[in-house]
Amino acid sequence: MSPVRPRSLLAAAVAATALLSAAAPAVQAAPAPVAAVAAPDIPLANVKAHLTQLQSIATANGGNRAHGRTGYRASVDYVKAKLDAAGYTTTLQQFTSGGATGYNLIADWPGGDPNQVLMAGSHLDSVTSGAGINDNGSGSAAVLETALAVSRAQLAPDKHLRFAWWGAEELGLVGSKYYVNSLGTTERSKLAGYLNFDMIGSPNPGYFVYDDDPVIEQTFKDYYAGLSIPTEIETEGDGRSDHAPFKNAGVPVGGLFSGADYTKTSAQAQKWGGTAGQAFDRCYHSSCDTTANINDTALDRNSDAVAHAVWTLSAGSVTPPAGTVFSNATDVAIPDNGGAVTSSVSVTGRTGNAPSALKVGVDIKHTYRGDLVVDLLAPDGSAYRLKNSSGSDSADNVITTYTVDASTETANGTWRLRVQDIAAQDTGYIDSWQLTF
Ligand code: TRP
Ligand code: ZN
Ligand code: CA
Repeated sequence: MSPVRPRSLLAAAVAATALLSAAAPAVQAAPAPVAAVAAPDIPLANVKAHLTQLQSIATANGGNRAHGRTGYRASVDYVKAKLDAAGYTTTLQQFTSGGATGYNLIADWPGGDPNQVLMAGSHLDSVTSGAGINDNGSGSAAVLETALAVSRAQLAPDKHLRFAWWGAEELGLVGSKYYVNSLGTTERSKLAGYLNFDMIGSPNPGYFVYDDDPVIEQTFKDYYAGLSIPTEIETEGDGRSDHAPFKNAGVPVGGLFSGADYTKTSAQAQKWGGTAGQAFDRCYHSSCDTTANINDTALDRNSDAVAHAVWTLSAGSVTPPAGTVFSNATDVAIPDNGGAVTSSVSVTGRTGNAPSALKVGVDIKHTYRGDLVVDLLAPDGSAYRLKNSSGSDSADNVITTYTVDASTETANGTWRLRVQDIAAQDTGYIDSWQLTF
């Protein structure tokens, strides 16, 4: 039995329609389709609450959260406690840099294929000169809230999910290098991808996508295209963050970036808003990198993009296998000698046209089936007659499978079964119906 998936891409579009119903009483709806699960919205307020905590930690610890300082360890403890409470298996990995102990925090979400591990990470350390709220409380908080959303959803992805918060990035990617080295070649080969988030709430933001693994890159681009937000390729310094050691070890990498000390051009200000001629983050590596140094809109969008990528890339195939049954088992009453009624089935994940021998399974309970006219409606509304009325067909029910040449119809979309009762007295209802693609 596959786990209950709270919001599938399908269900979002047609929430009122019973889809992919495993509980069709009279129609067998197996095998269950493999549907991509839409990521939840990541609440900006939750992400900002983490930033407030990181700011308080810095303020209480000499103004920073830098490697080897008490503010770093307190940051790790804060994130770890949230993950432990959410059901993660957390590991503190210790290393030494510059004579001080550093920590990577690794959090594994139980389940998934141990030979296909999707990682998402952010550096949790700041520079010594400030609290590091954009750099990189922003990425750390978004990854944390995404991990907590995975727990809230009790996500059961095909891949194994692992989240990481790196130490001593600001000293030269020390923590992430240490981690990648510590894995060894066998464990490294199990990494299906590493997603990096370093500075994603810049106050004068750009929307930069790393130009690395094409699938990861496209996943982020698709997300922004869905919001009609143009993106650019990240050029402010390849290898300047924790994805570099993974990339060097041959792991597919990707990530997001809202800009550091480079200046926003007027062309960029035109497409993204903000101030041309000013740095994306004027407080980069300085004492003003506080909770005031965050653009909420960028942080909100980028946090949702983190979740989108984690959900999308950890799922298995998003294409339902051939022979998938799309069904609707919600009863629809058919008014006696009345208007036509319909029941919808949403088909997604298909490319091209419908089959030339589309199987349409129909289960209509009725006390005189000769009363009924039944059509299949394609997504564009074209009708295919399945059954005419007949004054002499007095049998009960229409329980059969029709074969329709639907090869001129686009497969994806909302298909409907339309039923009309054209004679008085006998009545019934659509019990369920299904399409096999
Ligand atoms: N890693 C840098 C830091 O933490 C920030 C940075 C600059 C960056 N350019 C980048 C991060 C490009 C990712 C990509 O100080
Ligand atoms: Zn950084
Ligand atoms: Ca009737």
